[in-house]
Amino acid sequence: RTVYLRDYTPPAYLVDEVRLTFRLAPHATRVLSEIRFRPNPDATGRDFFLHGEGLKLISAHINGAQVTPELIEGGLTLDAPDASFTFEAEVEIDPENNTALEGLYRSNGMYCTQCEAEGFRKITFYPDRPDVMAPFHVRIESDLPVLLSNGNPGASGEGFAEWSDPWPKPAYLFALVAGDLVAHSGSFTTMSGRDVALNLWVREADIDKCAFGMEALKKSMTWDEEVYGREYDLDVFNIVAVDDFNMGAMENKGLNIFNSSAVLASPATATDADFERIEAIIAHEYFHNWTGNRVTCRDWFQLCLKEGLTVFRDQQFTGDMRSHAVKRIDDAMLLRAAQFREDNGPLAHPVRPESFVEINNFYTVTVYEKGAEIVGMLRRLVGDEGYGKALDLYFERHDGQAVTIEDWLRAFEDATGRDLSQFARWYSQAGTPRVHVAEDWSEGRYTLTLRQETPPTPGQPDKQPVVIPVAVGLLNPNGDEVVPTQVLELNEAEQSFAFDGLSARPVPSILRGFSAPVILRQEQSDETRAFLLAHDTDPFNKWEAGRDLARTNLMAMIQDGTGPDAGYIDALGRGIADETLDPAFRAQLLALPGEDELAQAIFETGHAPDPTAIHEAREALRHGIADRLGDVLSRLYDTHQITGPYSPEAADAGRRSLTNAALSLLSLTQGGDRARAQYRAADNMTQQIAALGGLLRIGEGEAELKAFEDQWSHERLVMNKWFGLQVAASAPRDAAATAEALTAHPAFDWKNPNRFRAVFGALSGNAAGFHAPSGASYRLLADWLLKLDPLNPQTTARMTQAFSTWKRYDADRKTLIRAELERIASTEGLSRDTSEMIGRMLAD
Ligand code: ARG
Ligand code: ZN
Repeated sequence: RTVYLRDYTPPAYLVDEVRLTFRLAPHATRVLSEIRFRPNPDATGRDFFLHGEGLKLISAHINGAQVTPELIEGGLTLDAPDASFTFEAEVEIDPENNTALEGLYRSNGMYCTQCEAEGFRKITFYPDRPDVMAPFHVRIESDLPVLLSNGNPGASGEGFAEWSDPWPKPAYLFALVAGDLVAHSGSFTTMSGRDVALNLWVREADIDKCAFGMEALKKSMTWDEEVYGREYDLDVFNIVAVDDFNMGAMENKGLNIFNSSAVLASPATATDADFERIEAIIAHEYFHNWTGNRVTCRDWFQLCLKEGLTVFRDQQFTGDMRSHAVKRIDDAMLLRAAQFREDNGPLAHPVRPESFVEINNFYTVTVYEKGAEIVGMLRRLVGDEGYGKALDLYFERHDGQAVTIEDWLRAFEDATGRDLSQFARWYSQAGTPRVHVAEDWSEGRYTLTLRQETPPTPGQPDKQPVVIPVAVGLLNPNGDEVVPTQVLELNEAEQSFAFDGLSARPVPSILRGFSAPVILRQEQSDETRAFLLAHDTDPFNKWEAGRDLARTNLMAMIQDGTGPDAGYIDALGRGIADETLDPAFRAQLLALPGEDELAQAIFETGHAPDPTAIHEAREALRHGIADRLGDVLSRLYDTHQITGPYSPEAADAGRRSLTNAALSLLSLTQGGDRARAQYRAADNMTQQIAALGGLLRIGEGEAELKAFEDQWSHERLVMNKWFGLQVAASAPRDAAATAEALTAHPAFDWKNPNRFRAVFGALSGNAAGFHAPSGASYRLLADWLLKLDPLNPQTTARMTQAFSTWKRYDADRKTLIRAELERIASTEGLSRDTSEMIGRMLAD
């Protein structure tokens, strides 16, 4: 059944207060609810409906009198008074057999919850929709030592604990945790003087992996006060780490629940990338307290209201903590690799979708990352000051409300006086706009003509022009900037922008800072690109110039059979040798476009990409770089080593990313000695795993792989890396066999989403291996998706995206993939989640 945005109606009843009692037992937990309802004056109907799924109803009362509700599809109804009343119910649920990890479930003996988006209905009968907000009071009865819920702690004693959350919230923000946990504690005093107790709750064995997360939380709290003026609003802030979790983390009010991989870190077990990601996710969930919790979404179509904004905020935070230039490049790489991929295929959807079957399928890179890009564009268009005013107005106006994208945009319009009606198309129109550039230079006047077009996407054949902020700067031929960055607003299909007073034809630097999530189509010579790589003052476009050179070279290698281009490699060599540049940025210069990105680029030239040929060309270019730049790379490797103790902070992490990028290239031409030495000497996971990866990619490292397993068999987060790396580093023809062998490993706990993703995420990420001509990877993945689907639909549905690019490929591959998609689609009892995803991929 499809749900449509246009069908929204306000709830018939609102909730004034909720009281819940949990009598925890693995197979028969009793949930007693007492809910005070009140007719909604804004409602059109008086039908009383409560969501409920998989609940055993024991009893129900209205105002103390027993009632017998009618159990219907997805919930219950009954004749409710047209006045305020109290509804009570007792239900029984089975957390132990909840393998979907939605609602209340058990993970290694610990009870925990995941309610977003629609999991609360698996806990008790309730109007499980975000526009119903209420204060919650919770009593937990259990012998387990640690009993947590949202809000502030109340009474507690032998076998029970009570919690009260004064802030009205939708049910999706409810949380409960009960387990044998220990806390890493800290404290924070807010700007108005509120003392907040901070706790990171983990299993005893993980207590040594909490310090970094705690510091990240404090930094996040300070940052939100300083940058957004937003203060925390409870006496405690609890974070819990759990091993079995479908996504990264969840912002439940006052009780954030994290996938252990998104919070636990120590130098020996986590990489620099893990530390950075953990810092960002802790910030993201914390920032949700204002953008998501205090101001929430009216309905799930508005998901980007909280997610796009909160991602934008966590990106700003990471930029402030580390480097804005490096962060922007990372974000652009992710957007292109994942969101453009989504926009270009059968799963394309607007940032605010208009319909869905299963909302869990819309927690996507489009909603999150493109949603964040929209916020960034708004900020660029109205300026920092306008943005600040708009956000203040948004919080002031909507605190305690469940609102829409229209409300969000109106705050910007009212605060800045700008008309955003055309801008709003970014939320409703799917697809990645292409911006074509034409230049003219005559009589001292330089003219840029920009033309935009957005290709059709499912359900949206025709597109309107959107408002595209194009940041542009001009350089003169000797490399000086003659026109500093200014923002051109492209809002028509085609528009020209003139620049006067120039003494020579300038070199343009267009879409600086990646100022809009678009694909720039620009005729540019390799000389111009090399010039920009050397001289652009905008770090993003400096990097982009190198990336364009690499892409052009790779495309020629793939399509025309040419070899590595010495001109590109020399320009790259000058870039990485430039000691005035941040090492992290230089490591990004060394990162070549990915195989999937190249496959899409070839597809757009009208040809079916050959994943094997793409892989070989990319490897050949890596060899070419390593050959020609051997001296520079080994010098960088030696001079950027860190001698002191490990620190995850940005400067050291940047040096490690540069030395590891150099190591990986050097291993190709010089063998495994350097990597083996690094492996032996490493006192941190960043260097250990990079060395192991370098060895595996050249077909060595057998001994190290075994040693790694022996060393880390007791650390499940590290073992996820061990599983994933082997598949990622496999030669294309071996990838399926490697993955299959790993599924037979005793530690392959396939019901654990992290472990399942380690193997199959790596398999789908190994483009040439996934698309190996035999179709072995397609079959293997489909087999395992079918095995997981009955247990965990959400993770299964997410992993089906591996197939989403299938229409790009040649007839043989298309036939193979279609057969797997159809085999999945025709399976009896397929989950709603997975069948929606497969259906969209098979639709024409
Ligand atoms: N709100 C969470 C976050 O972005 C993610 C929840 C994902 N939920 C889901 N059903 N996929 O931090
Ligand atoms: Zn979020």
